[in-house]
Amino acid sequence: MIQKRICIVTGAAKGIGKAIVQRLVTENTFVVAIDIDAENGILLENVFGKDKVHFSSINICNEKEVQSLFADCLSRFGRIDALVNNAGIIRDNMIWNMSVDEFDAVIGVNLKGTWLMCREVARVMKEQNSGRIVNIASRAWLGNKGQSNYSASKAGVVALTRVLALELGKYNVCVNAVAPGLIDTPMTQKLKPEVLQKLIEAQPTKTMGLPEDVANTVAFLISEHTQFITGQTIYVDGGKSIGASL
Ligand code: NAI
Repeated sequence: MIQKRICIVTGAAKGIGKAIVQRLVTENTFVVAIDIDAENGILLENVFGKDKVHFSSINICNEKEVQSLFADCLSRFGRIDALVNNAGIIRDNMIWNMSVDEFDAVIGVNLKGTWLMCREVARVMKEQNSGRIVNIASRAWLGNKGQSNYSASKAGVVALTRVLALELGKYNVCVNAVAPGLIDTPMTQKLKPEVLQKLIEAQPTKTMGLPEDVANTVAFLISEHTQFITGQTIYVDGGKSIGASL
C-alpha cells in the first residue's frame, strides 16, 4: 500500500481552505484540517471521512495551541509532508477610518499566525529533510484601497515565503506562495453587491475565480513535480495582477 502524505491545511472549514481539503483527499493525502470555526470544521470529518481528514480547532495566532498541534501531529504520524497556510481575515477601511484593533487583527492572523505555523513546521521539516510549504497570500499585496492592513499583511506573507525558501532550501523544503485574486467564497460574499460588481468588471476575465482554481495550484505546488520551484508567488487572479486593463 502506498503511504499517504500528511498535510496540514489552516482555515479549512470553508471557502478556499475547504476546496484545498477536498482536492488533497483525492490525491492520497491525509489532511489535518485546522480552523477556529469548530462548527463547520468538524463537518469535514463527516463529509470526507475520518480516514481522510482529522479536524482540530486551533487559533493560529496562539503560540501554545500551534505548538500542541504540531506535538500531536508528530505523535500521531511521525512526520509532516506539507503545510498550507490558508487562514486569513479582512477588516477593510480607508486608513483614516481604520482602528488599531482592525490593523492588529489582520496582521495577527494573516502574518503572525502564518509565521507561527511556519516556524513550527520548519523545525519539523528541517529535521526530516523534506517538505513543502504553501502560503496563501493575495493579489492585494500589490496594493488595494481600503486594505492597508490586509495588503501589508499579505506583502509580509510574500516576504516570509521568500526568506523561508532561502533558509530551508538546503533541507529539501520548497516554500511558495499563491496569490489569489477575486475568488467566490464566504469572504467575498460579504461584500456589498455594487462593490463586488465593480470588482468583477475590473477583471480582465470579467469573472470571479472559484476556490477550486486556488486548490488546483496548491495541489501542484505540493506535488513531487515541483522540487526546483521555491520562493515564488503564483498568481491565480484572472490576470488582474497584470495591471493594465481598459
Ligand atoms: P473565508 O473567510 O471564507 O475562510 C477563511 C477561514 O479561515 C475561515 O473558516 C475562518 O474561520 C478561518 N480563520 C480565520 N482566522 C483564523 C484563525 N485565527 N485560526 C484559524 N482559522 C482561522 O476566506 P477565503 O476567501 O476562503 O480565504 C482564504 C485565504 O485566501 C485567506 O488567506 C484570504 O486572505 C485569501 N484570499 C482570498 C481571496 C478571495 O477573493 N476570497 C482573494 C485573495 C486571497
